[in-house]
Amino acid sequence: MPTHEKILLKNMDQPGYTGSLKDYEAVGGYQALRRVMKELAPADLIDIVKQSGLRGRGGAGFPTGVKWSFIPKDYTGPKYLCCNADESEPGTFKDRQLMERDPHQVLEGIAIACQAIGAETAYIYIRGEFRLGAKILEHAIDEARQARYLGENVLSSGVPIQVYVHAGAGAYICGEETALLESLEGKRGMPRVKPPFPATHGLYQKPTVVNNVETLANLPHIVTRGADWFASIGSPPKSTGTRIFCLSGHVKQPGNYEVPMGITFRELIYEHAGGMRGEKPLKAFIPGGASASFLTEAHLDVKLDFESVAQAGSMLGSGGVTVMEEGTSMVWAALRLMEFFYHESCGKCTPCREGSSWLVQVLQRIVDRRGRMEDLQVLADLCQNIVGRTVCAFGDAEIAPIVGTLQYWRNEYEDLIRESTAISTTSKELPVLALNS
Ligand SMILES: Cc1cc2nc3c(=O)[nH]c(=O)nc-3n(C[C@H](O)[C@H](O)[C@H](O)COP(=O)(O)O)c2cc1C
Repeated sequence: MPTHEKILLKNMDQPGYTGSLKDYEAVGGYQALRRVMKELAPADLIDIVKQSGLRGRGGAGFPTGVKWSFIPKDYTGPKYLCCNADESEPGTFKDRQLMERDPHQVLEGIAIACQAIGAETAYIYIRGEFRLGAKILEHAIDEARQARYLGENVLSSGVPIQVYVHAGAGAYICGEETALLESLEGKRGMPRVKPPFPATHGLYQKPTVVNNVETLANLPHIVTRGADWFASIGSPPKSTGTRIFCLSGHVKQPGNYEVPMGITFRELIYEHAGGMRGEKPLKAFIPGGASASFLTEAHLDVKLDFESVAQAGSMLGSGGVTVMEEGTSMVWAALRLMEFFYHESCGKCTPCREGSSWLVQVLQRIVDRRGRMEDLQVLADLCQNIVGRTVCAFGDAEIAPIVGTLQYWRNEYEDLIRESTAISTTSKELPVLALNS
């Protein structure tokens, strides 16, 4: 198996590494922050991150340095950094490992980002179920305050950086950056209409940057080893650095794998994750969390970078790769994912709120052998009426499982519907129901 240098998961792989401040300092921790506070002006820091090519690891892949540069420079009031630790995308579990096993790496990244945008306060919005992660972070913040890496006067620079942990209540939508801000303000977590964007009207209507945990954890390494070093890893110029891919499903060794962007799905699944768990060949995989459209065995040689996965018709998203073996019912898989989206729709936008319920009902009907051939058009029409018609990207995400399965496995839908017709002509117990029944 090819070996690649790990960046983010490196420390925790060392025998005996506990993630304590002592352990983190022993591997060079907080040296990047020292350099930032002593040598680098915020504008230089933003330039370094721009040159590194770092793009957001939360899903959308927006260039981090560019996002920071949208914060108004002449604004003298409070600005905020929010670390998005909501991690609720099904199949994604990398941020949790980063926070639980190497919390100071995340905190150092947060402090560096604060200095770049001139924020004195950062909030870590952590998914409610991550109680252990929240506790570990609280403890690490205490350690960092005592050592003056955080607090009133960071490293005697006169600059204050305060970090607070805020636990959500376990809503998927609160990972969407503006719903996160609403929730942080104590309101019901629902996305805001954009523009205005958080860069000018974010938390409490103040300039705000929202960055993912993994994005922030990269920063100490970029500062220490340089933009060119980072930009040389992966698939330059647009997909630089490593990604932590979360492998789940029918593979031998599920787990988190940090690899340079640009390796193929075949390499990730068969060499890193040990291949399929049994004799059955691979049938399908989700390349980037539940919001990303399915790909097939024919896409195994697609490269794991932003552009290649988009060209293949899906997205790299959050890095959650879920593998399914031959024999998996793709209609059932679409229903299972759709049930999640229906449950998590915040209800703000009618197409998403109503459409997700209808999509579940139609899929359930097909799975229950009560479907009709017209249902395939109904599914396609419903998807068409949701995409692009919602305040946030949730609407586009929730139709992905249906659009993908209809594209590649339409025959499975048709087979189930044919079974329905056979049952309905021989049994009076399973009537064909109308859409609104
Ligand atoms: C429905 C929805 C859920 C999201 N959930 C998460 C999440 O759990 N974690 C995350 O970092 N980003 C999530 N995002 C993306 C964020 O809105 C935002 O783009 C990201 O936090 C920005 O950080 P980055 O630039 O470092 O990736 C979600 C987006 C949507 C539309």
